[in-house]
Amino acid sequence: MAFPERFSNLPDYAFPRLRALIDHLPAGGDPIAMTIGEPRHPFPDWVGETIAATLDGFGKYPPNEGTPELRAAIAGWVQRRYGVTIDPATQVCNVNGTREALFNACIATAPELKHGKTPVVLMPNPFYQVYAVAAIASGAEPVFVPATAATGFLPDYEALPPEILDRATAAYICSPANPQGAIAPADYLARLMALAEKHDFRVLADECYSEIYSAEPPPGALAVMQATGTDPERVMIFNSLSKRSNLPGLRSGFVAGGPQAMARVKQLRSYQGAPVPLPLQAVSRRAWDDEEHVRANLALYASKFRMTAEVFAGIQGFQLPEGGFFLWLPVPEGCADGEAAAVKLWTETGVRVLPGAYLSRDTAAGNPGDQYIRVALVAPEAELKAGLTRLRDCLYG
Ligand SMILES: Cc1ncc(COP(=O)(O)O)c(C=O)c1O
Repeated sequence: MAFPERFSNLPDYAFPRLRALIDHLPAGGDPIAMTIGEPRHPFPDWVGETIAATLDGFGKYPPNEGTPELRAAIAGWVQRRYGVTIDPATQVCNVNGTREALFNACIATAPELKHGKTPVVLMPNPFYQVYAVAAIASGAEPVFVPATAATGFLPDYEALPPEILDRATAAYICSPANPQGAIAPADYLARLMALAEKHDFRVLADECYSEIYSAEPPPGALAVMQATGTDPERVMIFNSLSKRSNLPGLRSGFVAGGPQAMARVKQLRSYQGAPVPLPLQAVSRRAWDDEEHVRANLALYASKFRMTAEVFAGIQGFQLPEGGFFLWLPVPEGCADGEAAAVKLWTETGVRVLPGAYLSRDTAAGNPGDQYIRVALVAPEAELKAGLTRLRDCLYG
């Protein structure tokens, strides 16, 4: 039996690749995993009681786009966080986490042809891997745009040739960025929106780390859209409770955007989507309404960031993330690349990190991630400190 050609070149996902790289090698110490971006802080203590109180909801098919109460809570959060009013009836859809929506929204909104040509979808490189699969599934060519130290770890879409920009149907932007931790300033987002208006493409803003930052709350794409008078149909934001509320297993997030684009997203989802179960929608509603647990979470990250800065004080190339919870560390001299650094670290100390190249693609100009490792700052603080200290001494000592 044949399989689709368009997915045949997909690399293995990052975590199986890491297992193949290091699992057959002995660990050089008690294993400490700093690979996956899975929050480990406690989630709010009212989650269980909310599920218990709404248990009968498991006996019903949930509404595709979220209950009116949940959509109102999301619109309320967008209003409080970004000062932007969106209509919960037409501009919000509850989804199973941003990953689902980042995939589906591209397929639902990106046309098959642009000016008679195969379209392109722009994305940063390195990047959260679903963007590329969404682009391919929509029939577009992914264009990987380096987001390196030289570009402030954000993709320089303005530098792309006009013929590429004219074929673009969508551009992903991730802020705070996974893996580099860069936050897109408001003027960067404003220039991206002007580019989108000029070349007629949509901006798909992955903001799932928006509530984890070291100084100021990151600017949001909807706020910039409003401030610049950009067509609301051009911009979609994606967020979830995975990082904000330490509920990655809840699988609950949202996509919000212009009513026409959202009608397409909702329509496609009504055929193929798996709506979030009603008791979990009730938890979600409560979580979007509550900021207290989000502040407590941020305080825990602030403490981790302070500790991390102390451990890495004076190490060249070290930078705390502006947002999100990953360190994006250049490999030290003596290691050929991120894979070599990950193997050395595992076999000498038992610390597991992800080679940067597993999050980025080879391009004609090289692979912008292959000289980096990604380190997740999610473990409990004492374990994290032990892991970071071993990492520092092994790679940068
Ligand atoms: C940049 C980025 N986007 C999206 C996601 C998906 O998160 P979720 O589907 O849990 O909202 C992740 C998860 O790690 C991520 O790092």
